[in-house]
Amino acid sequence: MRSRRFLLTGATGFIGKRLAQSVLEQNYQLTVLTRQLHGFEKRFPFACDVYPWRPSDATPPLQAFTDVDVVVHLAGENIGKPVWSKAQAQILYNSRILSTRNLVRALAASRSAKPRLFVSASAVGFYGDRNHPVDEDAKAGSDFLARLCQDWEAAAEEASEMVDRLVLLRMGVVVGAHGGMLAKLIPVFRAGLGAKLGDGRQWMSWIHIDDLIQLILHLVDTPSIQGPVNVVTPNPVRNRDFTRMLATALKRRAPFTIPKIVLKLLYGRIAPAMLASQRIIPSKALQSGFRFQLPQLEAALNAALLQQQNE
Ligand SMILES: NC(=O)c1ccc[n+]([C@@H]2O[C@H](COP(=O)([O-])OP(=O)(O)OC[C@H]3O[C@@H](n4cnc5c(N)ncnc54)[C@H](OP(=O)(O)O)[C@@H]3O)[C@@H](O)[C@H]2O)c1
Repeated sequence: MRSRRFLLTGATGFIGKRLAQSVLEQNYQLTVLTRQLHGFEKRFPFACDVYPWRPSDATPPLQAFTDVDVVVHLAGENIGKPVWSKAQAQILYNSRILSTRNLVRALAASRSAKPRLFVSASAVGFYGDRNHPVDEDAKAGSDFLARLCQDWEAAAEEASEMVDRLVLLRMGVVVGAHGGMLAKLIPVFRAGLGAKLGDGRQWMSWIHIDDLIQLILHLVDTPSIQGPVNVVTPNPVRNRDFTRMLATALKRRAPFTIPKIVLKLLYGRIAPAMLASQRIIPSKALQSGFRFQLPQLEAALNAALLQQQNE
């Protein structure tokens, strides 16, 4: 019997690389779409078929869909940077919404048998500012990131007619030492400059990278799950507690506060999302029997730092 084949976008990124590694460890086959073939083997040392793709500009080559069972679309301009101008906001938007539209267009045009499953990235930013616990049934928020996530998901939903199943990954902060928010915070905290954001009372929803990868594979293997899925642990923490726990894990103090006004000056349009409370419950993951290996932040941070030390 032919082994299952995954098609990944954003495979060279923080999440994509770990997912690719796990997919190959399960003896599945892999096809990758990437913006840059130059130096690809260095950035992505895994066996795969690879095709070039400019996500915001064009549809990917149709041959890329040959024998594909599962598409996982992770590509997108990194969100952790300041967003000042309309042009910068447009890059974030286009790299997600136009890329998703182009991918879905190619899926429609492909003559190969359609993949059974289309998994598309999104974020808990979808919900906007929430102080009370919310699950997948909650409505969308209205800030910049919430609107971006809604349009991103709407673009992915266009694929639902073509595949058996569509899953939207509403991810929280992914805790791992090799990318995402933690990779940016570690050197700052190590230098003794750790700080809570604003009053630090806002909730943060998070998941360790190992649990994230296992949850994606669980979703692939669980046909009853579809639509939006909150990809977070059931234990959100307040920003001030996240700050304290990270400082403790690094054996430092984090006595500082970055006032809201300074955050707005530093980060522009993305600042409201950094200050938003996100108290998100992973109802679908829990109801489907998924068991988190690292459900508590302290242990997740220590595991991430240990993984970094051991490499
Ligand atoms: N990390 C988190 O905490 C987190 C939380 C919530 C949601 N997410 C979402 O999950 C997805 C993957 O996150 P990640 O942390 O792995 O991201 P990442 O490390 O920044 O990697 C994203 C990948 O997307 C591609 N890419 C980069 N800039 C692009 C652009 N301007 N246009 C199109 N593609 C571009 C790149 O792949 P190629 O160069 O190979 O094309 C890159 O490796 C993203 O969409 C992100 O918004 C992440």
